[in-house]
Formats: sequence, C-alpha cells, structure tokens
Amino acid sequence: MTDYESILVETTGRVGWITLNRPEALNALNSTLIREIVEAATAFDADPGIGAIVITGSAKAFAAGADIKEMADQGYIDMYLNDPFARWGEFGRLRTPVIAAVAGFALGGGCELAMMADLIIAADTAKFGQPEINLGVIPGIGGTQRLPRAIGKYKAADLILTGRTMGAEEAERAGLVSRIVPADDLLTEVAAVAETIASKSLPVVYAAKDALQAAQETALAEGLRFEKQAFTAAFGLDDQKEGMAAFRDKRPAEFTHR
Ligand code: CAA
Repeated sequence: MTDYESILVETTGRVGWITLNRPEALNALNSTLIREIVEAATAFDADPGIGAIVITGSAKAFAAGADIKEMADQGYIDMYLNDPFARWGEFGRLRTPVIAAVAGFALGGGCELAMMADLIIAADTAKFGQPEINLGVIPGIGGTQRLPRAIGKYKAADLILTGRTMGAEEAERAGLVSRIVPADDLLTEVAAVAETIASKSLPVVYAAKDALQAAQETALAEGLRFEKQAFTAAFGLDDQKEGMAAFRDKRPAEFTHR
C-alpha cells in the first residue's frame, strides 16, 4: 500500500475508504492532498475488487476548502499556467461510485469535492457552503455549475453570492444531500450503503453511474438515447440473465462481475 502524507487509505471488503487527514488545517485541500486523493481514488477505480469508494474527513471538517494559505500569493499567471485544480478532472471521471460521507464543514472546495461524489451522506453536524466570495474569488472546482444543477439557480445564488453556510437539514431539503444520519452513526450507515452498491454487478453499476452523469451533462433527448443504449447493452451480460433468473426463482442474485 502506498504511503500517503495527508490521507488514510483502507479497504473493507469491496469498499475503498479515503479519509482526509490534515486536521491542523481542517482538511484544506493543498496540492499534496489533491494529488493524494486523486491517486488513491484512481487506484481504487482501477481495481475490479472495489465496487464503491467512500471519501470522508473528520468529525469537525470534511474539508474547509482549497488551501487559502497556498493560494494567497498566487498571481493570474501562476494559476493559469499551473492550473492547480486540473487533477480534479480525473476524480470526476471515476467509474466506481463515490460516496461523500460529510461531517462538519464542507466549504468551498470541500463542498465541491462532495458534489463530485455520486451520493452525499451527511451527519446532522454537516455545514455546506461556497464562501469564496468573502475571499474575493468565486468557486473554482465546479461550484457555480454543480450547485445550481443540484439545488436550482436561486438557492445556489443565495449561497454563492452571500457566502453563507447551510446546515444538513437545509441541504437535504434543497436536494444536496442523499440522506442525513446522526453524527455518531455516519460511518456505519455509509459502510452499509457502500457495501450494498458494491454487491451489485460492477459493469451495470458503471453503466448506471454513466447514465446519471449524462443527465447532468446533456440535453434530455441525448440522455434518453444514451440510456437506451446502456439499457440494451445490459442484455449482453450474464449478470442480466442471473438477476432476472434469481427474481423468477425467488432467491438473491449471485452476480458474476463483482
Ligand atoms: N485554507 C487554509 N487553512 C485553513 C482553511 C483553508 N481553507 N480553513 C481552515 N484553515 C486553517 C486555519 O487557518 C487554522 O489554522 P491556524 O490554526 O494555523 O490558524 C485551522 O485551519 C483551524 O481553523 P480555524 O481556527 O479558522 O477554525 P474555526 O473553527 O474557528 O473556523 C471555519 C472554521 C469557519 C471553517 C474557518 O476555518 C474558515 O472560514 N475557513 C475557510 C473556509 C473558506 O473560505 N473556504 C473556501 C476556500 S477557497 C476555495 O475553496 C476556492 C475553490 O473553490 C477552489
């Protein structure tokens, strides 16, 4: 297992866990942390023994944003040439479903990292926001695009233009959160959800994630065409035969590809 400086990496069964571990900076996403998250996630993604990835932080902070101290003295040309957030593109293209398990602060880049996941499961202590406006910048890892798609233009504008934070309940009402759970139960609940996803047929899970992604990125007619192709392709898999035979036989499915 690779040695990492700012994350903890663990595998339980078919679930890969990435825990952000920069407590002194509330998991602020500096260049080391970004690189390590992307490397660990892409390694899990390449492993057919992994059917779900969980990304989490501490009880106090999922992540308090991009590292402000690292960015403070950068100029336009530094940001333009170095493109410090470019590697997040790889995280956004993972085929394996990702669950963000969020307790405490998920602000700025932390909220944006959660939004790159497929599910956001929040502790009742979670606080979401895009406070970049208070720093004289705007969100830079997809916040202005993913937040309105998740919660609508008007709620997103409220957060992005005022810089305020919202708690877990408001976030769930707005549609940013898949489920809220008591803080003490967060990792147990997330493990159960991750294991459930990881027990399905891996190629079918990939196809479902891909189709959900298409819903975010394409117009309806194109998305429906994409879905029809992916649905039809599932009938070429032995796991479709097994899933439907298991239903007829009133027994749990034993998928081959997992
Ligand atoms: N970058 C760098 N360091 C950070 C940080 C960040 N985003 N957030 C917290 N820290 C550091 C603090 O500087 C502090 O370090 P020191 O002890 O060395 O001073 C340590 O973490 C603990 O933080 P606080 O003492 O501030 O803790 P608190 O409980 O009083 O406050 C907080 C918590 C409200 C989250 C506050 O830390 C905060 O406002 N953080 C910044 C949030 C923010 O603005 N995020 C957006 C960043 S910009 C961005 O993300 C751009 C983008 O889209 C890519």
